[in-house]
Amino acid sequence: MKRRVTKAIFPVAGLGTRFLPATKAIPKEIMTLVDRPLIQYAIDEARAAGIREFIFVTSRGKSALEDYFDHAPQLEQALRKAGKKELLEILQSTNMDSGAIAYVRQHEARGLGHAVWCARRLIAGNEPFAVILPDDVMAAEKPVLQQMVEAYAETGGNMVAAMEVPREKVSAYGVVEIAEDMGRMVRVGGLVEKPAPEEAPSNLAVIGRYILTPQILRHLNRKKVGAGGEIQLTDAIAAEVGGQGVYAYRFEGERYDCGSKAGFLEATVSFALAREDLGADFRRFLEGIVARSNAAE
Ligand code: G1P
Repeated sequence: MKRRVTKAIFPVAGLGTRFLPATKAIPKEIMTLVDRPLIQYAIDEARAAGIREFIFVTSRGKSALEDYFDHAPQLEQALRKAGKKELLEILQSTNMDSGAIAYVRQHEARGLGHAVWCARRLIAGNEPFAVILPDDVMAAEKPVLQQMVEAYAETGGNMVAAMEVPREKVSAYGVVEIAEDMGRMVRVGGLVEKPAPEEAPSNLAVIGRYILTPQILRHLNRKKVGAGGEIQLTDAIAAEVGGQGVYAYRFEGERYDCGSKAGFLEATVSFALAREDLGADFRRFLEGIVARSNAAE
């Protein structure tokens, strides 16, 4: 098995109903954190980790995503003419190489495992691949997928990103059964998708970054239905515990759950505060409104 990871699957077929009415007309992945679409953060993280081929699993109503990744020659021309070099650079940094992106449609909403399975023909029989859930936005000095690719070069097998969550929250996640705890790295003895807190094997939760062997796609072929009546990626990975092995990697960094409104707002505020061009003024503004609202209480 070669260990270089150069392809990533981005499941983006979800309807984004939690963000209605915004998502009535635009895909959730185009919604912006400060001034960049959610999907751009996932792409940048993948690129930093050495990903060269990007596979999007989409659905009806997602064509704005394809337009977003297209080059924009007229816009580039206008910016060039106007001498707006910085904006031109920002625009060009989102350009993708021709042939580097593939789109696959998921025709029915049958779960994350099914979405990944839809991309099976684009993954060769012996190559590992990454899966990135763009809803999980990561802020880290070294991009999280890069941390994992480096760790994976040592371990091989399958790897999921993981972090401790409060016990009462485990039913929102895939949860790890710890076979051996080596600190940053955990050898996984089992995985359970969305367990009840009292049944969860630990409070170590799977976060949306994966490096997987093609064997996972073979498990998904069985179309076994799991939690919530959906075909779960977690179940297919669990089936490899006794096969090529599964590791959970406690990443360094901050994770924002941008699948929820609260998480999206937290990411927005935190990313705005971290920006050189906006941070100082925005901090003063926030301090002001917090002070006023405290005084009014
Ligand atoms: C998915 C996975 C789950 C994982 C989570 C991380 O769930 O099925 O195992 O813990 O992403 O964000 P979802 O959030 O799509 O329900």
